[in-house]
Amino acid sequence: MKILVLHGPNLNLLGQREPDTYGTQTLAGINLGLQTVAAELGVELEFLQSNHEGVLIDALHARFASVAGVVINPAGLTHTSVALRDALLGVSLPFVEVHLSNVHAREPFRRHSHLSDVARGVVCGFGPMSYELGLRGLVEGLRRP
Ligand code: DQA
Repeated sequence: MKILVLHGPNLNLLGQREPDTYGTQTLAGINLGLQTVAAELGVELEFLQSNHEGVLIDALHARFASVAGVVINPAGLTHTSVALRDALLGVSLPFVEVHLSNVHAREPFRRHSHLSDVARGVVCGFGPMSYELGLRGLVEGLRRP
């Protein structure tokens, strides 16, 4: 089973970006931690980070036939992107939305997500562990008969 892991805008800056909010772990470190969980679960991961909405959408269009689901941190696009929502619905892939920070404890505009109501699940507020919990939940759900 292959899972696509998508990271949205500015997540390439993790480690140096607002460490009080996002911690000090780099994106490479997060991906490495996910690889360990993936090995335990017996699944394969593909990673993509982009600062461009269209690149994430194109990746979904290009990869949907060869992956079973998506773990996505849409970052700022969470709160703005109807197009990303449409792409996820368009390819009919089960996905989990994850956030490092607790978006509900921050500015009011972060409380709305264009993706949450169509996600299999949402995990936020646990730092890099949000990704790991999201991956575990997604794979568990996909394996359930
Ligand atoms: C984020 C939360 C978003 O509101 C923000 O725009 C991000 C990161 C998170 O992981 O906590 O870029 O998705």
